[in-house]
Amino acid sequence: MRVTVLVGSQWGDEGKGKIVDLLSEKFEVVVRYQGGANAGHTVEIGSKKYVLHLIPSGILRDDVICVIGNGVVIDPVALLDEIALLESHGITIKGRLFISHNAHLIMPYHKLLDSISESGKTKIGTTGRGIGPCYIDKYARKGIKIIDLLYPKILEEKIRQNLEEKNLLLRNIYNVEELDVEKIITQYLEFDKQIDVYIKDVPAYLNQAIEEGKSVLLEGAQGALLDVDHGTYPFVTSSNPTSGGACTGTGIPPNKVTDVLGIVKAYTTRVGEGPFPTELLDAEGEELRRQGNEFGATTGRPRRCGWFDAFLVRYSALINGISSVAITKLDVLSMFDEIKVCTGYEFEGKLLKSFPTDFQKLSAVKPVYVTLPGWKEDISHCLTFDQLPENAKKYLKYISDAAGIKVSIISVGPKRESTFFTDVL
Ligand code: GDP
Ligand code: IMO
Ligand code: MG
Repeated sequence: MRVTVLVGSQWGDEGKGKIVDLLSEKFEVVVRYQGGANAGHTVEIGSKKYVLHLIPSGILRDDVICVIGNGVVIDPVALLDEIALLESHGITIKGRLFISHNAHLIMPYHKLLDSISESGKTKIGTTGRGIGPCYIDKYARKGIKIIDLLYPKILEEKIRQNLEEKNLLLRNIYNVEELDVEKIITQYLEFDKQIDVYIKDVPAYLNQAIEEGKSVLLEGAQGALLDVDHGTYPFVTSSNPTSGGACTGTGIPPNKVTDVLGIVKAYTTRVGEGPFPTELLDAEGEELRRQGNEFGATTGRPRRCGWFDAFLVRYSALINGISSVAITKLDVLSMFDEIKVCTGYEFEGKLLKSFPTDFQKLSAVKPVYVTLPGWKEDISHCLTFDQLPENAKKYLKYISDAAGIKVSIISVGPKRESTFFTDVL
């Protein structure tokens, strides 16, 4: 019996979707615990490519049950679109997907307020999916939850109350057109009819499943450095992608978690604003973006690219309690003559002892690099650690030592088959 938390260990897009799909073979239940449709998790199977935003990546294996926990914020439009798309590919959803009655709903005003906020002074570069404003309402205790869909009168009343306040804000502060309350009420009452069948008491269900000896995989979205508490605030998302979020976001207690798997890209990327010490703003960065096809799976935005940051991953391992990691996209580095690895940061002439999350310091640090020789050959066919070129092995050994991580999975291509397990590192 395993209860594994899978966390993005950098700034998101580490390849979580691919690894969740791979591991789902060994798990009976896969659960999303935070975030919302800001996530874009890509899974390539044969000639098909799926991008999952809200539904756990385990859905692509028939015998896996998928659960959306209370920590997730759900846009019903995005959810129903995703269900329809998966069903059009012949994937069964009913009876295999369950949604926590305690998850919060993204409302049209959340998306509008997200875009308004982005046009203001502090641009975060959000995905525009209404994530921040929805979590604001959740913590202000004004949120509308999945369970409210079951009580039409209460749902209507809550929407009216919220709209009264939001329309005041839209009209008087932001000078934009008010939203039509009747239209939103009709729309959400309609969602009820379609979403009802998925609603479940998730903490009870998951704890029972664990009791029965089922294996559960908790699929994080985003990444540790985008965590609202431990990330590079304010350039973060509004939830807790770190492993602790897996407990609060599902109702599974910490003492039931057996291990934490970090997903680590062999280099670093970031989407949106915020400090990024190892960012490459030159031709090498451009080459990484091209080779790695680094364009957002949700927004299509080009991802910022840079060298592997071992100092950052060491911090990530610390706050997540990472047991072992999957290193992804190693193949993307194959064309470089030399590859740099950041081992620490210099600040005001001194080496920092711990990772600075504050904007001022992180924007001013100077990364310290070591340069390793590249391997300059295609590795996408490699199926074992031994088959990798010597310099690729040395690179893996170096980054695992520098970041203080144990590597258990290596990924050398986007497909399921391009992955192998290892206990060498
Ligand atoms: P996620 O958000 O963490 O699930 O990651 P994304 O799906 O947003 O981005 C990862 C991208 O890299 C996707 O296009 C994957 O298909 C792709 N990918 C995953 N693993 C590998 C790999 O080992 N090599 C290559 N070349 N691509 C990979
Ligand atoms: P996956 O799960 C990468 C980033 C946005 C922005 C910040 C806040 O695919 O790894 P938000 O819309 O959440 O309020 O945006 O967080 N961001 C991601 N970056 N991968 C993601 O998800 C992300 N989800 C949000 O670009 O900088
Ligand atoms: Mg992604």
